[in-house]
Amino acid sequence: MIGAVKQFEVEFVTPGRDRRHELGQFLTPQPVADFMASLFESRWQEWNLLDAGAGTGALSAAVARRLCAMRHKPGSISITAYEVDETLRESLHLTLQGCGRECERAGIRFSATVLNEDFISAAVPMVRSDLFISPQPRFNAAIVNPPYRKIRSDSLTRLLLRSAGIETSNLYTGFVALITKLLVAGGELAAITPRSFCNGPYFKPFRTAFLETMSLRRLHAFESRSAAFSRDDVLQENVIIHAAKEPAKPASVIISSSSGGPTGAVIEREVAYCDVVSPNDPEQFIHLAEDGAQDSARATMLRLSAALADLGLSVSTGRVVDFRARKFLRQNPESDTAPLIYPCHFNGGFVHWPKEKSRKPNAIVSNDQTRELLVPAGVYVLVKRFSAKEERKRIVACLYDSRQIHAPLVGFENHLNYFHINGHGLPMALAKGLAAFLNSTVVDAYFRQFNGHTQVNATDLRSLNYPAKTKLKGLGRRVDDPGLPQAELDALVKDELF
Ligand SMILES: C[S@@+](CC[C@H](N)C(=O)[O-])C[C@H]1O[C@@H](n2cnc3c(N)ncnc32)[C@H](O)[C@@H]1O
Repeated sequence: MIGAVKQFEVEFVTPGRDRRHELGQFLTPQPVADFMASLFESRWQEWNLLDAGAGTGALSAAVARRLCAMRHKPGSISITAYEVDETLRESLHLTLQGCGRECERAGIRFSATVLNEDFISAAVPMVRSDLFISPQPRFNAAIVNPPYRKIRSDSLTRLLLRSAGIETSNLYTGFVALITKLLVAGGELAAITPRSFCNGPYFKPFRTAFLETMSLRRLHAFESRSAAFSRDDVLQENVIIHAAKEPAKPASVIISSSSGGPTGAVIEREVAYCDVVSPNDPEQFIHLAEDGAQDSARATMLRLSAALADLGLSVSTGRVVDFRARKFLRQNPESDTAPLIYPCHFNGGFVHWPKEKSRKPNAIVSNDQTRELLVPAGVYVLVKRFSAKEERKRIVACLYDSRQIHAPLVGFENHLNYFHINGHGLPMALAKGLAAFLNSTVVDAYFRQFNGHTQVNATDLRSLNYPAKTKLKGLGRRVDDPGLPQAELDALVKDELF
C-alpha cells in the first residue's frame, strides 16, 4: 500500500549526495508508482506516454505493468523518457527493456525513446512551436515525479520558461507547466509533487494557469510528514495529482489520504469541485479537506465575514533578517539596543524576553541604520513562520506586550509574521482575541487544507476569513492568556465566535 512508504529518498550508488540534491533525485517507490499509474482513466488504444525526469524508469514501468495487466489491453505503448543524468542511463534502459518484454508477452506493441537531455531546454521550443521542430510531439498521458529546485530569476531555465509563457520559480512547477502544454486535449497527468503550489504566493501564476487548462480529478495527500519527501530545508508534504486536460470541470474531485503507517490505509472521499478550488478565490488556493472534521472547519471559517483589512489590520513578515543585520545583533540587551524577538521567545501565549542562554541574540542595536527594521512599542500578535516538525499545530500565535517588556522600539525577526495597525500595535482586547482565534483548532484544521508545508506565509494569513472586530474584542476580554490549554481555548472560541 502506498501509505507504507516511510521515506522516499532512495540510495543512489552513482552520483554523490550533492549532485543528487542538485538534480532533485528522489526516486518513487514502487507502491507509490503503481498507485499513480492506477489513476489513469482513459482507455487509449495507442498510449503515448511522457516521463519527464525519468530517473531509473519507475513510473514508466508502473504504467506498462498496469496496462499489461488490464483485461482490455491497448494496442501499443510508446514511451518518451527524458533523463538528464547520464549515470542513470543504463538502469533506465534496462527498466524500459523489461517493460518491452512484459508488453510483448501481453501482446502490446512497445517502443521507448530515451532522451539524455534537459527536459526544459527540449520542451520549451516544442511548446513555442519553433520552426524546425516538427512534427510536434503529442502525448496523451504523462506521469512525473519532477525534480524540485528553486530557479533563480536570472537563470537560463527561468528565461527559457518565460519564453514559453511560464512564470515560475521552481523546477517542479516548470516541469508540470510544460507537460500540460505537451498533452493533447483530454490527455491525463499523474504527478507527485510538493504541496507548496497549492497555496504558495510565488506559485500563483502557475496555479492559475494550471487550473485553467487542467481539470482536477483526484488529489492524494500523505497525512504523516514522515511519509513525505524531505526535498528542501522546509519539510514539505507531498501530493499526488491526477488531472485531465479539459477546460470543463467535473462536479467533484476525489480527495484521498494515506497515513504513512504500516497498514497504509487510504481514506477516500468525494468533494465538490468548488470546495477544492473556489471560483471566487482570487488566489485560487487548492484545498484538501480530508475528513468530515476538516469539512466542518472549512464551513465554519467560510461563515466568517471579515477580511483582515476590514478589521483595519495588516500582517507582515518580521523585518530583521538576522544574517543581513549581523553587525547590529547583541546577545544581551545593552543601553543602545532594542529587544529582538525570535520564535524562541514564545512562551505560551506571551513573549518572554530576554531569554537566558539563548542560541539566538536577544537584542539589536537601535540607531539610524536599524530604525527601519524596528517597530514602535505596543501590543502585537506574532505568528511563527515555521513550525517544528513535531509541533502539533501549524499556526502558533503569541502576544508581544510592551507593558511587560519596557522598550520604545522592538525588532521582529524574519522567522515571524506580525499583525499590526499601520505599523503600530493593537488594542489589548483585539490582540488577545485575534491570538486566541488563530490558536484555535478550527483555524489550524482549515489552514492545513491549503497549506501542506511547515511554512506559514503572511499571504496565507491574509487570505483567511476573520470574525468581526467586536467579536474578536469580546473574545479577547474573556481570554487572559491566548496560550490556554487547547480544549479550554477552543471552548471559549466556540462560545464567543461560532
Ligand atoms: C524526483 S526524481 C524522479 C525520478 C523518477 N521519475 C522516479 O519517479 O523515480 C527527478 C529526476 O529528474 C532528473 N532531472 C533533473 N533535472 C532534469 C532536467 N532538467 N531534465 C531532465 N531530467 C532531469 C533527475 O536526474 C531525477 O532522476
